[in-house]
Amino acid sequence: MSAPEQPRLAVLISGRGSNLQAFIAACDRGELAAQISLVISNNPAAAGLQHATAAGLATRCINHRDYLSREAFDHALVDELRASAIDLVILAGFMRILTPVLIEPYRGRLLNIHPSLLPKYPGLDTHQRALDAGDAEAGATVHFVTQELDGGPPVLQARVPILQGDTADSLAARVAGEEHIIFPLAARWLAQGRLALTESGATLDGKPLPATGVQYSSGMLV
Ligand code: GRF
Repeated sequence: MSAPEQPRLAVLISGRGSNLQAFIAACDRGELAAQISLVISNNPAAAGLQHATAAGLATRCINHRDYLSREAFDHALVDELRASAIDLVILAGFMRILTPVLIEPYRGRLLNIHPSLLPKYPGLDTHQRALDAGDAEAGATVHFVTQELDGGPPVLQARVPILQGDTADSLAARVAGEEHIIFPLAARWLAQGRLALTESGATLDGKPLPATGVQYSSGMLV
């Protein structure tokens, strides 16, 4: 009997690609039974493209500046995703706002990671905003992508303490360490068919998830 086919993942990036590297490592370790079939960057200078090439992955650069509208750019992305028969799409630091052109065909198969404890701080500069507000903790949230910016149903959320003397950079580094754990884990649930997006929100093993997703703290699911 042949092994069941693994879902085909596309990872979309714009920059450093540390989450992409976490995905590559999770696949190599056998923790994520999926194949990274394509890495797409909108930014030709993204360092993550070099990590992808070094790992032997197929890469494409689709520069948003070459398109007249967000929709035209998204059509180009969808064409590439279809050409590579992609099952699941992972937005790993992809700094473009998507339109229904991409969101609808991949509904329930499209995950993003956002560096805050959503619903707090959608948008940019999340770590500085958490510091300015005097928050005691910060974190990251993996969520399904819907048309609401950073507003799709949360799946998994990691929390870290904010320490005295933290800067946006030190906090970002602490949060990134957690992102590299929770994002491949959420993708694993999706690849296993355990995670779904329903009319009323995200479900895991058929059970509705809490409004802020499964919580991950101090190295444990809680
Ligand atoms: C991460 O902080 C992620 O939460 C945000 O963009 C950053 C991407 O970092 N959406 P990297 O490119 O994966 O290193």
